[in-house]
Amino acid sequence: MQLKDKMDNIQSISHTKNLTLNNINKSFGDNHVVKDLSLKVEKGEFVVLLGPSGCGKTTALRMIAGLESVDSGEIEIGDSVVTHKLPKFRNISMVFQSYALYPHKTVSENIAFPLKVRKISGDARDKAILDAAKQVHMEDLLDRYPRQLSGGQRQRVALARAIVRQPDIFLMDEPLSNLDAKLRVHMRTELKRMQHEMGITTVYVTHDQVEAMTLANRVAIMNEGVLQQIAPPKEIYGNPKNVFVAGFMGSPAMNFIDGTIENNEMNILGRKFGLNENLENQNALLGIRPEHASISEKDKGHFNAKVFTTEQAGDHTLVNLNVGEQSMVVKMSSDFEADFDKEVGITFSLEDSYLFQKNNGERIEVRLVDK
Ligand SMILES: Nc1ncnc2c1ncn2[C@@H]1O[C@H](COP(=O)(O)OP(=O)(O)OP(=O)(O)O)[C@@H](O)[C@H]1O
Ligand SMILES: [Mg+2]
Repeated sequence: MQLKDKMDNIQSISHTKNLTLNNINKSFGDNHVVKDLSLKVEKGEFVVLLGPSGCGKTTALRMIAGLESVDSGEIEIGDSVVTHKLPKFRNISMVFQSYALYPHKTVSENIAFPLKVRKISGDARDKAILDAAKQVHMEDLLDRYPRQLSGGQRQRVALARAIVRQPDIFLMDEPLSNLDAKLRVHMRTELKRMQHEMGITTVYVTHDQVEAMTLANRVAIMNEGVLQQIAPPKEIYGNPKNVFVAGFMGSPAMNFIDGTIENNEMNILGRKFGLNENLENQNALLGIRPEHASISEKDKGHFNAKVFTTEQAGDHTLVNLNVGEQSMVVKMSSDFEADFDKEVGITFSLEDSYLFQKNNGERIEVRLVDK
């Protein structure tokens, strides 16, 4: 991009704003779907709302957009409270999963739609369309109709239509989920680049943790309407607050193995470990990421296990094992092979393992040590 274009762009988005949610709540009948959600998104920041289906992500986004009323709490954009303002007074652009282009309008006319509503015409309109189309690399396809475009190109038109409004804030609800896997990965990189170039404050909803990890400045993880943790992706991955976050972030997921803590020792499958700090007696869960364990000969690891299946995955092999009554996945190199039901040993990195309270899932910030 030419420097001049870049400067024009930066000027055009210099009004992007921060977003604050203070204890917002929403119920549908007696279904309390968003519970005391508080969140501060900094100017230019890209926050991804991540969580399982039905946890309240879309509802939260629709409240920010003004498409859903708020039962209690406050929403601020920049310095103004917008909690009860109509959507059109919030200067937000929202991109949905179904990008809903007008089939009988060209790319150019589709992108121009928000300008028509705002009664912008003539040269200003043409320039705005071209600028927005350039952002998503669609400037050569302005005269095409949606049916003449690929899924990814259609999605880009939807993005351009959102950009052309010069919003203070972007809201995106699973915008890539209708695309095939390859295109989704491609559009993910395009979105990341677009965010780098435009720097508009964005709240992006997905239930795809890879999308969240790669796009977000910070990831906000929700479960059953409650914000569990908000932090940069690395922090969420390396320092999860509870079992839910630990199990949700990472693929394959973290393994959890039952154990008991008694007299400052943790007993896991009959094997005793020390603790680097004193703890009350309780039931606890040991969390081990698949990449932090390895398979050795029987009786040579921390505990024994039996191979259930192995899955070759190109650059690595996933080994599913039974450990007593529990199951576990270990990530090994691609040349690893083992027969079904083979008895093996499992060694894990004590330093990289996690402990959680069994009763409420909260993280215990204590490490295991060898005895
Ligand atoms: N208009 C509505 N009326 C009644 N219940 C609703 C309405 N909209 C959403 N819900 C309910 O609120 C809960 C949260 O829905 P929401 O769409 O916010 O979830 P989500 O996290 O976006 O899920 P998904 O990942 O499947 O899109 C669900 O139980 C849903 O059935
Ligand atoms: Mg949704």
